[in-house]
Amino acid sequence: VIAWGEAPIDDPTADAIALLSAVERARLSTQRSARRRAEFVAGRLAARRALSGSGLPLPRDLAIDRDEDGAPLLIGLAGVALSITHARVRAIAAVADRPIGIDLCDATDAPRIRRVARRAFPRAHERALVLEDDRSACLAWAAKEAVAKALRIGMLEGGGVERIEIVAIDPLEVRVDAARCDLVFEVRAVDEGWLVAAAKG
Ligand SMILES: CC(C)(COP(=O)(O)OP(=O)(O)OC[C@H]1O[C@@H](n2cnc3c(N)ncnc32)[C@H](O)[C@@H]1OP(=O)(O)O)[C@@H](O)C(=O)NCCC(=O)NCCS
Repeated sequence: VIAWGEAPIDDPTADAIALLSAVERARLSTQRSARRRAEFVAGRLAARRALSGSGLPLPRDLAIDRDEDGAPLLIGLAGVALSITHARVRAIAAVADRPIGIDLCDATDAPRIRRVARRAFPRAHERALVLEDDRSACLAWAAKEAVAKALRIGMLEGGGVERIEIVAIDPLEVRVDAARCDLVFEVRAVDEGWLVAAAKG
């Protein structure tokens, strides 16, 4: 990771919306709920904070478009990867010089993760990790999502749930299509939960 940025998820202010590019404002207007609009703007603000902190020379007409699969796509900045995540209270973004995926999971999501563990973690040994404690449940979830984002494997349509296998939590070890993967993990604790970043090694 070259730089991190974050932003609280609040009702978007006019100043925040003014920072967006035309393509992002157009996308904002198609978001279906007030919550989703707040999340979208917070993610874009977090991304701009990460980019500003990166020291990279930024073009005046920088835009964060959306790729076909939903991944953020930097327009006007080649060779730089961006990942965005939002949970209940904040959005976090990371900028890197290689493919990266990040995912933030709130500790309060642990009971929900346990409820869906059979579907999200099809292997018995993964579920055993998830059931250990709240932190393990959140890290297993966030790791799967982060790997899916970094490798651009769709979680549901792309079979990510099955293809990405959590082998260990401390330290994180993941297999993709039954093989060891060359991802480097970073785990960060925030006040309300945990974040996992996965970047190509
Ligand atoms: C959409 C998905 C990429 C992540 O969703 P999520 O974890 O619920 O949401 P997050 O807030 O962490 O991430 C959303 C951001 O990821 C980015 N994103 C979306 N699709 C992406 C993709 N295919 N690749 C990389 N990044 C993607 C976007 O920037 C999006 O924010 P934006 O739309 O405001 O720009 C996907 O993994 C998914 O559909 N998850 C479903 C949940 C599930 O069943 N998970 C099983 C976990 S074990």
